[in-house]
Amino acid sequence: MKAIIPAAGLGTRFLPATKCTPKELLPVLDKPVIQYVVEEALEPSGVDEVVIVNSHEKPQMEAYFSPDPKFEDYLRAHGKDALAQKVHQAGELPVSFVYQDEPRGLGHAVWCAAQKVGDQPFLVLLGDYFVPDRQMCVRMQEVSQQHGGASVIAVAPVPADQVSRYGIIAGECVGSYGDSGATGEQEGAVWRVTGLVEKPAPEDAPSRLFIVGRYLLSPRIMDLLATQGKGAGGEIQLTDSMERLLEEEQMYALVVDPDEGCDTGTPAAWAATNARLALRDPQMAAAFKEALGDEVKLG
Ligand code: UTP
Repeated sequence: MKAIIPAAGLGTRFLPATKCTPKELLPVLDKPVIQYVVEEALEPSGVDEVVIVNSHEKPQMEAYFSPDPKFEDYLRAHGKDALAQKVHQAGELPVSFVYQDEPRGLGHAVWCAAQKVGDQPFLVLLGDYFVPDRQMCVRMQEVSQQHGGASVIAVAPVPADQVSRYGIIAGECVGSYGDSGATGEQEGAVWRVTGLVEKPAPEDAPSRLFIVGRYLLSPRIMDLLATQGKGAGGEIQLTDSMERLLEEEQMYALVVDPDEGCDTGTPAAWAATNARLALRDPQMAAAFKEALGDEVKLG
């Protein structure tokens, strides 16, 4: 199975930092955001390659995942073996690149990787959000297996006045993940999806469940994306083709806790993600708290 990471966007919410540095390469602790996403993508069984959809304006991304033996030799020669190993690991990951000529929307970005995925189901992981324990896509795979290999998306409840920022599902709860017994909007509930709408007005939203940024999709979606017209915001929307897919195939949604993952798409979200992970990191937590001093009382 392949996993696609769309990462060709402009990152406008993070300007001016993203003027010269792709937002996917911004660091969280000592690694770029996208490396967390790649490592998460490789966790589900059967993922053998991660396809990053990149922009020609962001050549640094491909450079980051390329081997750099000369630099590794330099680090080893200076007694920095552990750092050389980290540099080596980034160049060893099974990552390949396709290019989106301009940011025409998430649907178009996914379609750019069509030849790579061929006729197999595939995962899509947004490039500015990652799940540290890497288990969300694993659970989605299990739900898919329980429903004959159907497409599965991760969703989570959002306050009613914020639905217009997201892709929202319509559907009904049909069960739960594992033995959680979850129902409705509870974490672990499984819904059969009957409709999808991108950025609805609150009065038009069919539910409060938004798509979190993790998709396990049938390859048929690529045929539909090939003919998909522009939707909300003048962009080619993945949700519009998923809506068309529903006319032919079943689709399920797994309710997750969005805080299980870390957003890095805005300066505030990125700062919070760094703080959360620094506090969890045994080697960093003490120094981080000390550096903050009395500015905040951290538990
Ligand atoms: P976002 O909308 O969060 O990213 O898309 P963006 O457009 O870069 O950011 P803002 O809104 O301007 O701040 C989610 C993911 O989809 C990718 C982005 O790179 C991001 O990782 N994307 C989006 C593409 O690859 N191509 C597109 O045309 C749009």
